[in-house]
Amino acid sequence: MGRYDDGGTASQLFTSLGTFMRRCLFCVLSVGSIPAHFAFIMDGNRRYAKKKNMEVEAGHRRGFSSLMLVLKYCYELGVKYVTIYAFSIENFKRKPAEVQNLMDLLLEKINGMLKEESIVNQYGVRVYFIGNLKLLSEPVRVAAEKVMTATANNSKVVLLVCLAYTSSDEIVHAVQESCKHKLDKIQALNGYKVSNGVINREKRVKKISSLMVPDVEESLALKAHTACNGVVEAVEGTERINGATAYSVEEYCDKKDEGTGEKQGEHPTIKLVDVEKNMYMAVAPDPNILLRSSGETRLSNFLIWQTSNCLLYSPAALWPEIGLWHVVWAVLNFQCNLPYLEKKKKQL
Ligand SMILES: *[C@@H]1O[C@H](CO)[C@@H](O)[C@H](O)[C@H]1NC(C)=O
Repeated sequence: MGRYDDGGTASQLFTSLGTFMRRCLFCVLSVGSIPAHFAFIMDGNRRYAKKKNMEVEAGHRRGFSSLMLVLKYCYELGVKYVTIYAFSIENFKRKPAEVQNLMDLLLEKINGMLKEESIVNQYGVRVYFIGNLKLLSEPVRVAAEKVMTATANNSKVVLLVCLAYTSSDEIVHAVQESCKHKLDKIQALNGYKVSNGVINREKRVKKISSLMVPDVEESLALKAHTACNGVVEAVEGTERINGATAYSVEEYCDKKDEGTGEKQGEHPTIKLVDVEKNMYMAVAPDPNILLRSSGETRLSNFLIWQTSNCLLYSPAALWPEIGLWHVVWAVLNFQCNLPYLEKKKKQL
């Protein structure tokens, strides 16, 4: 003892010492409240690559290593839910070669999740891919679905990977789903005996759904919501009339369009709970902290529905530079702000 024959033994010793120190630190932190849900916007991989004179792809790979460490720290700390913004719908607008490289990297990493030694198996992580997965190329989508199925019985900790995601797209999707469910329910109640009404109803729905194509630029979510409530009210209106063929949906809608001084709450509408239930993120509670690296303070269309009572933390470090101390500092920040956050939550 006392003499190291190779660097391996020394570095092993330092690693163990590091792990031990980290565990001690986390024990102390755990005296306070640990956030249940930690969200990350991993910003700055490209800037990091530029700063270090690397290829962009190397920057993304460094970013991935950083993510693995951050995940490990979160799960060691007892954070149950971690959400990461892996790829935004907006990112499809980047140069095709970069998008392709990113997709290849994603595919490699998603497939890696099922390997024995992966962090997913190590910590018993349940993985969800959150977003409009239809927009992904087939291999990536298939891999993502495979991981979701394979981890479906894990319950200890949860990783939500936002892929082909934007908040406005999520909201529009949730409103569309709410409308669909409402319509299905009404149609099941009514049956299809009112043939005239049914044809008109379908026409009307088509018109509405063409309005509801996700369009981030114009933020149609709100408009879609309004339009949708219109059609549901209209259809439920026919339900009230109870099979009267004379009064078709189309007529009812036209009447509404003329603005005949419709009283609010007269017909059942899509409610907040309906929309919330249909959010992709409905599988997790709202995040408690959102960390965005690179000192950026924009939300960039990430979890805007879910962050009304969330602490934002944006250290200046680029994502590949994010490490243990940023996580610790974020948790300390959360603990200091907890009384304030809880007071605000009660006022909501
Ligand atoms: C999960 O559990 C269910 C029921 O216990 C079982 O049928 C299914 O095969 C399990 N899935 C995996 C991936 O282990």
